[in-house]
This record gives sequence, structure tokens and C-alpha cells, in this order.
Amino acid sequence: MYGYGDRRVLRRGSPVDDGLGHAMMASMSVASANSARTGTQITIAGVRRVFDGGMVAVDGVDLTIAAGDFLAILGPSGSGKSTLLRMIAGLDQPTTGTISLQHSADQQAAHADVAFVFQDAHLLPWRNVLRNVVLPLELVGVPRAERITAARQALSRVGLADVERLYPNQLSGGMRMRVSLARALVTQPKLLLLDEPFAALDEITRHQLDEQLRILWKDTGMTVIFVTHSIMEATFLAERAIVVSRRPAKVVLDRRLALPPTRTSELRGQPQFAAEMSVLLTALEKHF
Ligand SMILES: Nc1ncnc2c1ncn2[C@@H]1O[C@H](COP(=O)(O)OP(=O)(O)OP(=O)(O)O)[C@@H](O)[C@H]1O
Ligand SMILES: [Mg+2]
Repeated sequence: MYGYGDRRVLRRGSPVDDGLGHAMMASMSVASANSARTGTQITIAGVRRVFDGGMVAVDGVDLTIAAGDFLAILGPSGSGKSTLLRMIAGLDQPTTGTISLQHSADQQAAHADVAFVFQDAHLLPWRNVLRNVVLPLELVGVPRAERITAARQALSRVGLADVERLYPNQLSGGMRMRVSLARALVTQPKLLLLDEPFAALDEITRHQLDEQLRILWKDTGMTVIFVTHSIMEATFLAERAIVVSRRPAKVVLDRRLALPPTRTSELRGQPQFAAEMSVLLTALEKHF
């Protein structure tokens, strides 16, 4: 997607903490512009997470997420959604059960192929936009010219081609989130995990980012898992939506959304969109 030349693996990254308390996973799978990229398949079997003191955050979750799918996760606050996402990213381990990531039939994916976007953009204030986006590539030693080209392409994909020299304090909240998304995309992840990334934004900006994310997903073929409290956002974005119960998180609804593959803003006003939202809302209300 970002046009690096021949597909080759420069270096397998390991989880790298960027010093702001969150891990960025960088894998330097260098793909040609027109090579088909496939997403990661995730198999979650009997997963339970018990924290110190015996508090059960997640219990008995069994899920298979197909390569290239777009899954939204909805559920009450404190129900264990972030805990589940962190375990999928390899940032936390199940107490019992297993989570395996499979890139293709015979190749086990490394967690290095995973990127995580959080609710806060977590940009480094002393680096300009471009230097924030190149960071994951810099950390794993991609040559300077190559990483700058990749970062510019990622910025252009999120509609920020013209602000690369600005610093985080010169950006709006929506722009900061776009930079955060570009920084995740620059590694060409096979699995993109997002934990309420647009929750703090105004509704129109959020809709625009949702539309852009949907296009990015279609263009790249990556698997996306998106946690949100917004039923409208989940319905607009996802191919499949699950609703989890109050803590401990158990899956109480698992639904493939009957909506068209190409989603534009008009879809939000359509009857079939309202019908899908209503199914999710009913499940959520029942288990809130
Ligand atoms: N590292 C931890 N140690 C102990 N308890 C934790 C830890 N992380 C999360 N918890 C607890 O696990 C439960 C689930 O938390 P989690 O963050 O997964 O919920 P959530 O569904 O993401 O909530 P929200 O929608 O508010 O973000 C909460 O009660 C929380 O306090
Ligand atoms: Mg959370």
C-alpha cells in the first residue's frame, strides 16, 4: 500500500515501548504497492482473565476472527473490552485459555504485525508530525529516506499531507488522532486494534474519520478490531459486531451486519442502518 518496492522482511520487530506507556509494534514487512496484503486470523479459545484479588475481567470468551474482517466490540464501561484487546495485542496474558494469531495457513504471525491506537493520540510533543509518524520505523532501523517516504504516504492516506512540519500543540484533536492513525499505519500492520480512538472528537470529525478508516481497511486488507461505546460508529464501520455483557465480559451478541460494503455518510440515514443499530442497542440494553 505504501509502495516500498519488493516484498521482503527487513527486521522482525518486537513490542517497543515508546516511552509514553503504550507499545507500538513495528514489523518491517516491506510490500510492493500492488501486492495483496492479508490480515491476521485470530483464534480466542476459552479466555479468562483474573486480576490480582480475584477480580474476573473476562470470562469464557471463544471467538474466531477471520483474516481481513472488521470487528466492532460494544459493551458497558468496565466490562473488560480493553482487557480483551490488550490480550489480543500480547500486552497482557490470559489467566486461562489461549489467543493465537495466524497470518496464513502455515505462518504464525508475530505480535510485531500488530498496531494499537488508543483513545489519546500519545504524540511526542517535541517531535513534529512527520517525526512522530516515522518513529515506529526509526525504532527498528528502517533507512531514513525509506521511512520518510513511508510516513509521507501514511500522512497522505489520513488527509494530513500538508502539516508534516507542525508540532502536536499546533494541531486540533481530530488532526492529532489522524497523526496517531498514520503512525499505526506506517508499519503496514496486518492487525489494527483501536480502543475508542475517536471518542473525544466532535461528531462530524468522528464521522469523517470513520469513513476514512473504512476506506483504509478496504484498501489494505488488514484485520481491524475496534472498541467503541457508539452504536452508530460500530454499525457504520464493522462487518461483524459483538456485544459483551457487564463484567466479566462474555459475548452476548455476535452479528454479521447486513449492510453494503461501500459505506458513505448517506447510509446513516437509511432504514437498514437503523435496523442494524436497533439490534445492537437491544442487546446492549439487555446486558447493561
Ligand atoms: N491491570 C489491571 N489490574 C487490575 N484490574 C484491572 C486492570 N486492568 C483492568 N482492570 C479492571 O478490569 C475491569 C475491566 O476493565 P477494562 O478496562 O477492560 O474495561 P472496559 O470494558 O475497557 O471499560 P471502558 O468501556 O470504561 O473503557 C475493570 O473493573 C478494571 O478496573
Ligand atoms: Mg476500555
